[in-house]
Amino acid sequence: MSDTPLFEHFNAANHNTDLPTSKDQAADEMQRLTEALHHHNKLYHQQDDPEISDAEYDALKRRLIKLEEAFPEFKHPNSPTALVGYQPIDAFEKVKHKRRMLSLANAFSEDDVKDFLDRIQRFLKTDEAIELTAEPKIDGLSCALHYKNGQFVQAVTRGDGTVGEDITHNILTMKDIPRSLTAPFPEEIEIRGEAYIATEDFLDMNKEREESGKKIFANPRNAAAGSLRQLDPNIAAQRPLKMIAYAVGHVSDDFYQTIKTQSHFREELERWGFRVNAPVATVSSVKDMMEYYEDILSTRPDLPHEIDGIVYKVNQFDLQERLGNVSNAPRWAIAHKLPAEKAVTVIKDILISVGRTGVLTPVADLEPVGVGGVIVSRATLHNEDEIQRKDIRVGDTVIIQRAGDVIPQVLEVKTELRSQNSVPFKMPDTCPECGSHAIRPEGEVARRCTGGLICPAQAIEHLKHFVSRKALNIDGMGDRIITDFYNKGWIKNPLDIFTLEKRQEAGEINLLEQNGWGEKSVENLFKSIDDAKSVRLETFIYALGIRQIGEVTAKKIAQEFTSLDTLILTYQPNAAFPDLSNIDSIGPEIDKDFQEFWAKEHNLEMIQELATEMSVSDYVLEVIDSPIKGKTVVFTGTLTTLSRSEAKEMVERLGGKPSSSISSKTDYLVVGEGGGKKRQKAEELGVKVLNEDEWMGFAKKPV
Ligand code: IVH
Repeated sequence: MSDTPLFEHFNAANHNTDLPTSKDQAADEMQRLTEALHHHNKLYHQQDDPEISDAEYDALKRRLIKLEEAFPEFKHPNSPTALVGYQPIDAFEKVKHKRRMLSLANAFSEDDVKDFLDRIQRFLKTDEAIELTAEPKIDGLSCALHYKNGQFVQAVTRGDGTVGEDITHNILTMKDIPRSLTAPFPEEIEIRGEAYIATEDFLDMNKEREESGKKIFANPRNAAAGSLRQLDPNIAAQRPLKMIAYAVGHVSDDFYQTIKTQSHFREELERWGFRVNAPVATVSSVKDMMEYYEDILSTRPDLPHEIDGIVYKVNQFDLQERLGNVSNAPRWAIAHKLPAEKAVTVIKDILISVGRTGVLTPVADLEPVGVGGVIVSRATLHNEDEIQRKDIRVGDTVIIQRAGDVIPQVLEVKTELRSQNSVPFKMPDTCPECGSHAIRPEGEVARRCTGGLICPAQAIEHLKHFVSRKALNIDGMGDRIITDFYNKGWIKNPLDIFTLEKRQEAGEINLLEQNGWGEKSVENLFKSIDDAKSVRLETFIYALGIRQIGEVTAKKIAQEFTSLDTLILTYQPNAAFPDLSNIDSIGPEIDKDFQEFWAKEHNLEMIQELATEMSVSDYVLEVIDSPIKGKTVVFTGTLTTLSRSEAKEMVERLGGKPSSSISSKTDYLVVGEGGGKKRQKAEELGVKVLNEDEWMGFAKKPV
């Protein structure tokens, strides 16, 4: 900071509407304003302790904008004025981490913690106590911030630990990330930390979204991840993202000369203006560690953000270096997991949801309650045996538990709080959706509606599955539209999807009646339906939504029958159905379900009709006919999206021959970063040269 009191900046900014008379003066004033604004940003956003009013802040900023317009040459690369109006980007750039971003091994008990300490001592061949730092493990997503010569230059997500995505544009919307470091700082430093959304901010944000009819986020972690993985930074700018810095990544050599420990590093992070983890401690025995653990366990509900454990790290960097890594986790750190979060609430009702295959699933409708920052109003009760075992009843006070992203479960019933007239829950023996019998076959836990496709719930779920991403992948036909169209009688079965356009043209239905739809949306929908008409046999089989026939099994069946015609001919009424139970991964149970499906004549009829509307291509082994088939491909330089072995495997999968040396027999040379020599040779030999993107696009072309 300059010596001039900040107040004077304000005065100057407020009253001085003239431009400076000399360039030196302009540069000087701009420098002071830039520093002042960064300073106030920090006070406001990081310390919640502003020194000046919003109006004063705006005045300073307006003055700086004015000067930057007049003297663009002095505009600071990290100017605080850049915090308004963000430009979307076209695609995320892949960035290879200079130092891999590892994950952490887990400890679940005191014994695990002891084992961890013992391992370290054994490895270092010492009996002396090792000093560790202890800090909360934040439940967000990790990012790496790169600084060169004290200036922020780039932010990257963890990705797969080796390659991440450039999210600089989004990180720049976060006002509390230091744009520059105060000296001393190492020439180059990568600061790692966790981006997250604080619990209270999350609840506020969801409340607002709910009120304005937007979809609410499941939990703070998803909301943070969703915000950072946006091409348009204006979205991130509206989200209350924060970041806690906790680790060092790639650094220039000067770093370790002055900073020897994790705890010293934390002090430096704080001095540079990063938000740091708290509460922290240094520990050196299992006893210390367990005390810290108990402490955190009791203060956890008061922490401003969600945590899912504690991280212990060996304090000394030179010891960390000696300890190194085991596969993808450091030997010098461990995550001590905290138990999943619990809450107490009341079951208002027990609802029955009917799935695609008719299974009746009981779901508790709860008095909404916050569990670790998420508002929960439903809990799965699994099935009637589970309800009986725990004796769960309507009106009961229960303890629910949420672990990670899974749907909350009822952990325990507070029977002592139960009212006298409470009655045990009884599963209905008719389907709540269609009134058909719901039966529970011997030996099965599930009760099923026998209505089949006359049951609206099953029909709708079937349709949703038919158009879903892994099935026909009809863009623009989401769950809501399926339900609406079904209720309007426009789409009752899969075939109706393909006759929509004809019926619209004939004036039998009018899609424009649909809320908010115009000519364009109708046209787009027809286009996606048209695109979805050509599918591979295995996709078609999967899309049918037959019980137990997932993607893998569908592929096995496709491989067995090769064409839809053969399949239809094989399963004609009165034919002797083949035994598929010997096929690897199928077995008698799945075969039985598959046969039952075909035994219903309406299914066969529907498939025959679908076959006339759609073009279902025969099963082919992926290698037949690829553009790479029989071609020799050489890779050179560093690839950013594929490892070398993945790249080779890809060539093989596509029927080509990978090779490492270039000759006149080479068909393609794929050049990554820094592959100069071979490129020259390829050009001399007239071998086709592709860059990595071209290769990916080329190799992915449909066969
Ligand atoms: S230190 C080598 N400290 O946990 C790992 N990680 O499960 C160095 N995490 O990917 C990381 N809070 O994203 C560290 N206080 C903390 C953390 C933390 C959360 C995350 C981090 C890592 C994951 C591993």
